[in-house]
Amino acid sequence: MTTRRQFLRSTFAFSALAASSSFGRAFAAPDRAAHHVLMFGDWGREKVYDGQRSVANAMAQYATRNHLKTDAIFMLGDAWYGPLDGGVDSPRFHDQFESMYPASVFPGKAYSIMGNHDYQHMPQNVNKRDTELAYSARGNTRWTQPSLWYTFDLPHMHVIALDSNVYHPIKEGNAVDFTLTPQEQAQQLAWFEDELAKPTKAPFTVVMGHHPIYSDGPHGDHKTLIAEWEPLLRKHKVPLYLAGHDHDLQHLEFEGHPTSFVCSGAGGADLYDLRITQDQRGPYAKKVYGFTHMESTPDKLTLRHVGADGNVLHAFTKSHDGTINVLS
Ligand SMILES: [Fe+2]
Repeated sequence: MTTRRQFLRSTFAFSALAASSSFGRAFAAPDRAAHHVLMFGDWGREKVYDGQRSVANAMAQYATRNHLKTDAIFMLGDAWYGPLDGGVDSPRFHDQFESMYPASVFPGKAYSIMGNHDYQHMPQNVNKRDTELAYSARGNTRWTQPSLWYTFDLPHMHVIALDSNVYHPIKEGNAVDFTLTPQEQAQQLAWFEDELAKPTKAPFTVVMGHHPIYSDGPHGDHKTLIAEWEPLLRKHKVPLYLAGHDHDLQHLEFEGHPTSFVCSGAGGADLYDLRITQDQRGPYAKKVYGFTHMESTPDKLTLRHVGADGNVLHAFTKSHDGTINVLS
């Protein structure tokens, strides 16, 4: 466990150059010559979605102000809270996706992964998970999710998109919440291991799943993912794991761990109090609406958490050799 203070101290000690060049420095403006992804999770709140709109507006203003031509957006799960009446023909797809994140502002595909709310059958005759897959398959949309787990490539990165809804039996009387079956879970795990073992020319491998493996938020650390996925991230030195689920923005580092853990689950759903503060485990965790900007070059990734007011709240770079510099 690394607290924010320890992290800053150890990073200072790690590189005098990094200390002198990075800390206390104002945020660098996005590099227009780099490649850009914007991401958010936990966004499609039902009926009243002021929170979602405020984050989407901030994202649009941020992209415009910084002249970003996004290669993609990542939607980190929990697309639809509440019922999705009409299935693929639900007006929510237009109102809360197509027009909320327009291609004219955010060019590129919108890659999606399944959140726990996407697994619900709401209303009873609509399986939201299968509806999302069908919506993506129908074409004529940027919504991209070819299957529950899949890979894709962007400039400088190979992305492995996972389904983190690991098996648990349906609770008595709860007819809406479903998960992967034990067989699907085992199949995905074997596939994930194979994917990580494959050689890639991309300088960075990025893994994303809706549930955080480690989280300072109310859901806490995830026992099953720690047992099944975390050792693979460590073994294959995966530099970055992206998640949502907890409605906040986080960046966690652990001494000696090759993976930076980023949570961006503040895209619109109600916010909840953190369980662990960033002084206890960080370097960053904040209960705030916002989104995350990932900038890539062949040598480094730069991640910026941005609030709904458009201000950069926290940023760090991760170099190809694993060096991390916190920019705030
Ligand atoms: Fe969730």
